[in-house]
Amino acid sequence: MSQPSRTVPILNLNAQYQSIQTELEATILEVLRSGHYILGKHVAALEEKVAALCGAKYGIGVANGTDALLLALWALDIGPGDEVITSPFTFAATVEAIALRGATPVFVDIDPDSFNIEPSAIEKAITKRTKAIMPVHLYGLPAQMDPINAIAQRYGLKVIEDNAQGIGATYKGRATGGLSDLACTSFYPTKNLGAAGDAGMIVTSDAALNDRLRSIRAHGMRRRYYHDELGVNSRLDELQAATLLVKLPHLAKWNSRRAEIAALYEKNLKHTPGIVTPSVSLAGGQRGQATEQVQHVYHQYTVRVQTKPHQNIGSGSSLMSSEEYLANSNRDAVIAGLSKQGIGSMCYYPVPLHLQTAFAYLGHKLGDFPISEHLSREVLSLPMYPELSDEDVHYVSDCLNTIMTTEIAPLAVPAPATSTVATVTSVVAPVPQTAAGVVL
Ligand SMILES: Cc1ncc(COP(=O)(O)O)c(C=O)c1O
Repeated sequence: MSQPSRTVPILNLNAQYQSIQTELEATILEVLRSGHYILGKHVAALEEKVAALCGAKYGIGVANGTDALLLALWALDIGPGDEVITSPFTFAATVEAIALRGATPVFVDIDPDSFNIEPSAIEKAITKRTKAIMPVHLYGLPAQMDPINAIAQRYGLKVIEDNAQGIGATYKGRATGGLSDLACTSFYPTKNLGAAGDAGMIVTSDAALNDRLRSIRAHGMRRRYYHDELGVNSRLDELQAATLLVKLPHLAKWNSRRAEIAALYEKNLKHTPGIVTPSVSLAGGQRGQATEQVQHVYHQYTVRVQTKPHQNIGSGSSLMSSEEYLANSNRDAVIAGLSKQGIGSMCYYPVPLHLQTAFAYLGHKLGDFPISEHLSREVLSLPMYPELSDEDVHYVSDCLNTIMTTEIAPLAVPAPATSTVATVTSVVAPVPQTAAGVVL
């Protein structure tokens, strides 16, 4: 087999490290020599700067993004008997945090263009137990915060942004993270602003929540060894904070480069058969056209490798498991084809959360959130990091174009479904349609 002419991994953290190596190593050495390793001046400076970036008053550094979500819910006293509305198409941590508080995650399906929670479907999911809405800025594209906040206000609910993938993004000119009661971010190394290990932060403009969160993250202490309430150890350390402080001044430049790369991909792939490029607008906007409303930070550049909706599959003895249902042989072929050409790609996320074993206790079945299910079958993230060269992007695009035009059989556009359903292990999975009745 011939060797690919270049290698383009999905991510290259080493390239970023090399671009800031001198400054980063000097800072790390300074922290090591200081003898002060937890919740020191670097953490305080980072809290101030990230809060300012988000347009919020306070930042509370914690051990990781999952803890940020957990502590945000905790600070709002959300627990058993309460319901929190969120998307089934996100990383598990969003929903895990709700469940770990003993509250019930309530899913609302997503808008197929933005991959984010569909605001017009939220109201139907509200009950008297609902306490909060937790939108996720998936892949770095802000969720539709105005309608979400309007609903929250009407029903007296709190809003917690899961901003793990959205740091630096803007919605109607305002930064994500400052658009709700509390926002949580992750500094996991692969994030747009990534530490050299685990780290996370909550931001808020509410003084009482800030005070409570500072207490909960450190064993419920406001004064050393006086425990006002139960808490946890979720302190941020100085080495991570110092790393993030070195990187933070580069974030805007890195995010702009990500947007440039996305524009190049868009130009190269917009006519590729069987590929749907990501929308950059809030919902249903024109693909590839930046709007004044929103700035996407492309944590991921995620295309859809189209597949036909399953129709009339499985009945009686030939039932399909959800894993089989969610399979997409076109996408598998693309992943394999790219890999042969030295290109990395990844599915974020192959199984929506309502179909995951960990959340089986919620009692959902295939067909409950058809848009999330359909997009889980189609999404594929391509290499995306600021150090990618234009040549790398052209190479990836050319390879994908070739695979789609020569290896994948041209896709027949599925006819609009009427009453066609898929019977899967005794559940009914309707052909996914958007609110406007458009078959995905
Ligand atoms: C959407 C989302 N929420 C939450 C998290 C959890 O963050 P962490 O991995 O820092 O715990 C992540 C990141 O992995 C994420 O992508």
